[in-house]
Amino acid sequence: MQNITTKLKKLFYLWRRTQVPKKQPVEISKIDNLIVFLICILISIISSYKILLISPLNLSDIFSWLLTFTEALISSGILILISKKENPTITSRQIILIITLLLTVQALKLAWGSTISPLSIIIPPALIISQGMGSITALAWVSIASLIWPDPVIAINNNLFFILLVCASVVSILGGRIRSRAQLLQLSIFVPIGALLSQWILIGKNNISILDNQEFVFGSVKIFSDSLLLALVMLFTILFIPIFESIFGLLTKARLLELADKEKPLIRRLSLEAPGTFEHTLLICGLAEEATRMIGGDIDLIKTGALYHDVGKLHAPNWFIENQDGSKNPHDEIDDPFKSAEVLQAHVDEGLKYARKNRLPKPIANFIPEHQGTLKMGYFFQKAKEKNLNINERDFRYRGPIPQSKETAILMLADGCEAALRAMNINASDNEAFETISKIIHSRQKDGQLASSELSLGEIYLIKRAFLGVWKRIRHRRIQYPTSKNNTFS
Ligand SMILES: [Fe+2]
Ligand SMILES: [Fe+2]
Repeated sequence: MQNITTKLKKLFYLWRRTQVPKKQPVEISKIDNLIVFLICILISIISSYKILLISPLNLSDIFSWLLTFTEALISSGILILISKKENPTITSRQIILIITLLLTVQALKLAWGSTISPLSIIIPPALIISQGMGSITALAWVSIASLIWPDPVIAINNNLFFILLVCASVVSILGGRIRSRAQLLQLSIFVPIGALLSQWILIGKNNISILDNQEFVFGSVKIFSDSLLLALVMLFTILFIPIFESIFGLLTKARLLELADKEKPLIRRLSLEAPGTFEHTLLICGLAEEATRMIGGDIDLIKTGALYHDVGKLHAPNWFIENQDGSKNPHDEIDDPFKSAEVLQAHVDEGLKYARKNRLPKPIANFIPEHQGTLKMGYFFQKAKEKNLNINERDFRYRGPIPQSKETAILMLADGCEAALRAMNINASDNEAFETISKIIHSRQKDGQLASSELSLGEIYLIKRAFLGVWKRIRHRRIQYPTSKNNTFS
């Protein structure tokens, strides 16, 4: 009986560990909350006040006003919740951006009414949101912006509404995936062309009499000018996206890829001044990328984050083993484990300084402290112990925080496995390599480093398999091909 209870307890423990822990949302200050709430109230007022202007006002009008007001308020709330769900690290500035765009669109609809095409008002902001906050947030934003019309008198053509929804959804979905500014430009040309053709087919033929030459010309000109306006507004939006990126701290795919360019001054410095660290970084990029692909995380984010994770070592490259090409180890010279631990911690602190100086976005800068978490600097801790110094374990641990996302946790694991995999014997079996990887990952798990990362046990297993795959690739590269005298140059 006791045996069964122990087994049940163990099973329950394992089940709980496989459950993804709920992530704490980013704290938003009271003032920011108040600003967000006031903007939501403004959206609701703008979206509903026109109903109250109908005279004579009866009870059903007041009821309809109340309904529209509440609908707008709840929709704004749902939009904020969706954006928080899609981006757990969303900042208050970004939430303010999303709802301010909604407020602007409602105000524009009210000011211009039916004189301007709703396509030009709704699609460009959808592009900004999909680029900065992802497709799901953009789709939620589009559905609210398309459904709530502040002026009940304006009846939007059903076909135009359909075209608006399709075009805005295409922009929202593709905008979240687009990886370069060139693709954005293509989108800003093809979407207006698509809108032009679909408007001409669905609206033009119904409403414009082809027999009446004058009406045909005016109708066609209106459709053409609306589509041209959409193209122009989209092009302007693309021009302004970098400004939105820096003001609101948006991290678009295009920005991530720009930052991952190895010609960026900071990365170039790393390759010249700390070549060992640069090599270590490149191998980690490979490990982390493969593992992230396995579990379905953000590959572009981790590749860029991995590239910058150790830039702090630029402050003193020769204090790190990978950059010591057989020369004297400064740690041996000072022979002070406390000072050595400070130098190690400094690669995190200095890294954050470099990140600030180079205006790295927060999600990238997060890789710098989180890849070390609160890990123990085992070697120097042991040395201090041997010297019988009065030690506190906390002095030999990085100051953290521990990884807060799957991506930073993968980087921590890749960072831990890199040196061990590089040093492994070329003749080691897959099982031996897998065991080494498992040991390193298990020690970090046991140390509580993965507690806030949302990685499940299944995902950790997939990460181990991915690391093994990369190691097999490295081993394959290290095996020299036999060359005969005749085919040396073939
Ligand atoms: Fe590091
Ligand atoms: Fe590292």
